[in-house]
Amino acid sequence: MAEEKTMKEIVSLLKRRGFVYPSSEIYGGFGASYDYGPLGVEMINNIKNLWRADVIRAHTQVVEADGAIILNPRTWEASGHLGSGFADSLVECQQCHHRFKEEEIKDQQCPDCGGKTTEPRSYNLMMKTFVGPVENTQSQAYLRPETCQSIFLNFRLVTDSMRMKLPFGVAQIGKSFRNEINPKNFLYRQREFEQMEMEWFTPEAEAKEWFEYWKERRLQWYLDLGLKKENLRLYEVPADELAHYARRAVDVEYKFPFGWHEIEGIHNRGDFDLSNHSRHSGRELKYSDADYPEPFYPHVIETSAGVGRLMLAFICDAYQKISGGRDQESQRSEEVVMQLSPKLAPVEVAVFPLMKKPELVAKAKEVFEQLKFSFRVQYDETGSIGRRYRRQDEIGTYLSVTIDFDSLKQQDVTVRDRISMKQVRVEIKNLPSALKQFLTKGSFNEG
Ligand code: GAP
Repeated sequence: MAEEKTMKEIVSLLKRRGFVYPSSEIYGGFGASYDYGPLGVEMINNIKNLWRADVIRAHTQVVEADGAIILNPRTWEASGHLGSGFADSLVECQQCHHRFKEEEIKDQQCPDCGGKTTEPRSYNLMMKTFVGPVENTQSQAYLRPETCQSIFLNFRLVTDSMRMKLPFGVAQIGKSFRNEINPKNFLYRQREFEQMEMEWFTPEAEAKEWFEYWKERRLQWYLDLGLKKENLRLYEVPADELAHYARRAVDVEYKFPFGWHEIEGIHNRGDFDLSNHSRHSGRELKYSDADYPEPFYPHVIETSAGVGRLMLAFICDAYQKISGGRDQESQRSEEVVMQLSPKLAPVEVAVFPLMKKPELVAKAKEVFEQLKFSFRVQYDETGSIGRRYRRQDEIGTYLSVTIDFDSLKQQDVTVRDRISMKQVRVEIKNLPSALKQFLTKGSFNEG
């Protein structure tokens, strides 16, 4: 199928070009875990920083926190994760012993070999561990399945130490763990993944309005970063599919090559978390200030997205195959171009000497040095210039700067943009400001 082929090509490109590797590959991989390579790290750092810019810095009332992964296990009693709310129904094929979520099979028939499956049994998704040298029920703890719980546990501490006044938000980026029965679709569903979450505390009367605000704001963020409108939609989660903590949920969905799937959830969690933690811990987490007649539990609007899932969506959206090659230097029947927003691309500017001649290499290195603290720059002198353009196109680099023999005489360079492939000459002394301008505009063509 074309979709499967596309995913295979994307997975292979990401490995070949240092974005994502199968984890522990030399031991045959491990449980659908993935490692980010150098370019993958650049890209996820860009995603996280762009999220921070929009969710935190653009809103003076949002602060960032970073809580522990292993919390007091009582947290998960209060949050409902130890109960049936965070369990999947598991079945196993009696023939090939593959395991599935009950909802993935029909008529007790294994989708892989057609064998008969067992009766479903409940299976909690939290990853267990032991804290300290003795392994018993007292030392059992859990790796957090969502990052937000420490935000609720610390609600009082943040409010008091930072003198926060409603409405306000606490944001957090960090690893979460879920013992998914059937991890699949590459970065889409993993057992260890990173989340970017923001909990917005508001009086109940304003919760509806804030839900609309954050839903629209988050959707716009994806559009601003170049995800195609036709590949994005909002899905109102029906009442019988809501997570155990949610009163309302709208998912931002993206049209992956394997279908429409959630990339971010916007949830109205009501006062579920603060009231439950108050009850379980015996510490009152009500909010009070002189503007309100009595203490109360604020309601929570949550935005929650997975970094790896977003990276996969941005890459699927940007991945383009062009048959016949893009320019006269191309000798290939097919080329791949990653049409990523320059804001997301691991490399903003590539610097090349036209040939590996000492005087060109020296000048190119001088240009590289001039740019390296202001841009994400990569220097490349290996292979023909055509091949070097191809390599940069494949990883989504927006601008390529070439130093040729004229550069030595005229003190200027050629700048090529990935989208229009137009080339312009720019004086070396004006290069940083010209590149900044090209990067902000997105293409030489626009104005
Ligand atoms: N605190 C709310 C919460 O965790 P969720 O809908 O379970 O809500 C939010 O997860 C987001 O986290 C999802 O939209 C997805 O982007 C990401 N996510 C969840 N499970 C994941 C997994 N197994 N692998 C990768 N990302 C995942």
